[in-house]
Order: sequence, then C-alpha cells, then structure tokens
Amino acid sequence: MEGKREQAGLPGEAVIRSLVEQALDALPSAYAPYSRFHVAAALLCRDGSVYTGCNMENASYPAGLCAERAAFAKAVSDGKREFSGIAVLGGRDGHVTDWCPPCGICRQVMREFAGPEEFWIVLARSLEEYRVYTLEQLLPESFGPERL
Ligand code: THU
Repeated sequence: MEGKREQAGLPGEAVIRSLVEQALDALPSAYAPYSRFHVAAALLCRDGSVYTGCNMENASYPAGLCAERAAFAKAVSDGKREFSGIAVLGGRDGHVTDWCPPCGICRQVMREFAGPEEFWIVLARSLEEYRVYTLEQLLPESFGPERL
C-alpha cells in the first residue's frame, strides 16, 4: 500500500533506506584530505538505477568536486538524463552527526536535469533520521534550461 509521501511523488521508506545505505557505503571513498569533511550521495534515476558519488578534493582547492555532482557526472556519462531524487550525507572524518544539505552549485546542477517540484532530496543523519525536501523547497524561483 502506498503511503501519503509516495502519493505526493516523494520516496517511501524502502527507497529512502536503500539510498541512504548506498550513500553510507560510498562514504569511505570520499577524498577530502583538506577539509576532512566527507560527503556521499546516492542518485536515483527514473529507470531505477542508482549512482553514488563522493567528494573529491584537490590541492588546488577550487578544482574540488562535491559528492552530488560526482554522482550526476557518473550518471550523465552513462547516458542517464532523468532523475527522481538524491540522498546526501556527510560529516567530519566520515562521522555523520548532522545534516549535510547540498551546496548552491549542486542544487543548480540538480535543477538542470530535474523539475523542481518533482525532484526530491533526502538529507540523512542515520538510517532512521532523515528529512525529505523537494528541489523547489531548497532552490525556489530557480533558473532552469527552459528559460533560455
Ligand atoms: N561538499 C559536498 O561534497 N557536497 C556539498 O553539497 C557540500 C560540500 C564537500 C566539498 C568539500 O570537499 C567539503 O564538502 C567541504 O566543503
């Protein structure tokens, strides 16, 4: 039986749990020797496939890449263009103790490939503690490809 959240186009418990587990599995891959802040994401494509990503820092600091965009780059490179949502988590030295909301650049990259009312973002602090937002909530009045 579908819950209220699924009827509203948001993910159910099982989907959230699976994405958070996959993000937690990806977290040890984070390459963050400079900030020591480890981040991982699990991106769900409309076809059901999932791409994980981790942050990847660089000695030339601006060359670093966020976990969310790493996941998008993997998926888009694989030909994916349609996405349902993403789970994001992280913390200092890989210890997840608080929420890790996506940065502004990552929100804009999500906007490129997804309708702001449909695409959802799960912030997880553990398998049991999470918050679900739409992209519209995190990036209101956004600028997207249809404006060009
Ligand atoms: N970071 C992400 O991977 N995703 C975000 O949305 C926020 C920040 C990374 C970038 C950098 O490697 C570290 O967290 C500290 O900013």
